[in-house]
Amino acid sequence: MYLCVCKAVRVRPVQAALRAGQLQSVEQVQRATGASTACGACLDAVCDLVKREQSCAAEGALAAAAK
Ligand code: FES
Repeated sequence: MYLCVCKAVRVRPVQAALRAGQLQSVEQVQRATGASTACGACLDAVCDLVKREQSCAAEGALAAAAK
């Protein structure tokens, strides 16, 4: 599934990079992949993915801290 059609950026590699901490912000995703740097129609999807992955990482950290 494409995250950004204009730049042919798929969701999974970006999601993996966010989960690995290699990318941590919308700006980093834009610079690294080019996503959301053409028509901009995918900006909300990029923002949502970054927020979702950051929130998931925070939940994982909380769960790990609780153990
Ligand atoms: S769909 Fe991502 S910049 Fe156009």
